[in-house]
Amino acid sequence: MITQTDLHAAMARAALAPTVHNTQPARWRSDEAGLTLACDLAATLPSGDPLGRDAGLSCGAVAEAMVLALAARGQGVQVTDLWAQGDRASIPGHRIAARLDLTGPVATDPLAAMLERRFTWRGRFDPAPAALFGWGRADAVLVTDPGGKGWLAALGDDAGLAVMRDPALRHELLHWMRLSPRHPRHAHDGLSRAAMGFGALEALSARLALGPLWPLLDRLRLTRPLTAEATATTSSAVIACFHRPADESPLSSGRAYLRLCLEAAHLGLAGWPLAALSDTAATNAAVCARYGIGPDRRLIQVIRFGKPTGPMPPRARRPAAELLC
Ligand SMILES: Cc1cc2nc3c(=O)[nH]c(=O)nc-3n(C[C@H](O)[C@H](O)[C@H](O)COP(=O)(O)O)c2cc1C
Repeated sequence: MITQTDLHAAMARAALAPTVHNTQPARWRSDEAGLTLACDLAATLPSGDPLGRDAGLSCGAVAEAMVLALAARGQGVQVTDLWAQGDRASIPGHRIAARLDLTGPVATDPLAAMLERRFTWRGRFDPAPAALFGWGRADAVLVTDPGGKGWLAALGDDAGLAVMRDPALRHELLHWMRLSPRHPRHAHDGLSRAAMGFGALEALSARLALGPLWPLLDRLRLTRPLTAEATATTSSAVIACFHRPADESPLSSGRAYLRLCLEAAHLGLAGWPLAALSDTAATNAAVCARYGIGPDRRLIQVIRFGKPTGPMPPRARRPAAELLC
């Protein structure tokens, strides 16, 4: 029988899952039969993610991390995806995401051990070829050839710049950036300067460039070099074009997404999403056309994986009380 202490320990492990802008929107409510997972609508991105798809993906990644964390304690769960119901009434301020009903004992899934090892690496990867040991997934095209990586890198830079030209998106990104260690939420959520690979000076430049100086820099055509990631993108060992059934809920897609990231972590690879490519209709279509991802599938994410050239940055995670609803 799983105890409340076990459940809270599993919630803390589940919170290690990746979430968009490190918003960590997943909240838990437990009862005798199991857990309800809800998405905190105050921790979503109205400008960048108006449909809540990234919030759903993030909650899905946390749900799968919870499945793994509970299995590591011998506890099985049956997950019911409730995202599509769009229930925003049962728990005010939240959208019900899933139900996890306790079942019988289960064996540990070896991927659980990767929850602590997976992280996002924003920078150049180790150029030495990584051994992928035949890694493959039916829901991901794994691009390893220099031509393909170069094409995705150039397209990614175009899409990234176009996205950043939206003032509301820049404002929202800045809101979730913790550019000073003195920010009151620095240890809890959002994007720290260490996580973004910035020093103190780069953090100050980012605040100005994404804020008041953007219009001038853009007129002077200086924003492309500021936002370009192509050199780092092409240094990755593999770029995964992750696609799922077109009609799948983001909650279920997010569960599979976490497993993709944990499999990469098992190979010693850190990930760096290039979300602008999947979020922009034209580039999403171009990637699907090039890699034969048909209309029955949805390109969910393009993510670079490679060996990081530095240690894992300190993690910002919400305290336990913030994970409950
Ligand atoms: C749906 C989704 C989209 C994301 N998009 C990006 C992105 O475009 N660029 C980026 O650098 N990180 C992106 N991330 C990574 C998150 O910012 C990262 O998971 C979060 O900051 C927590 O850090 P961690 O992965 O190191 O634990 C995305 C994550 C998710 C779940």
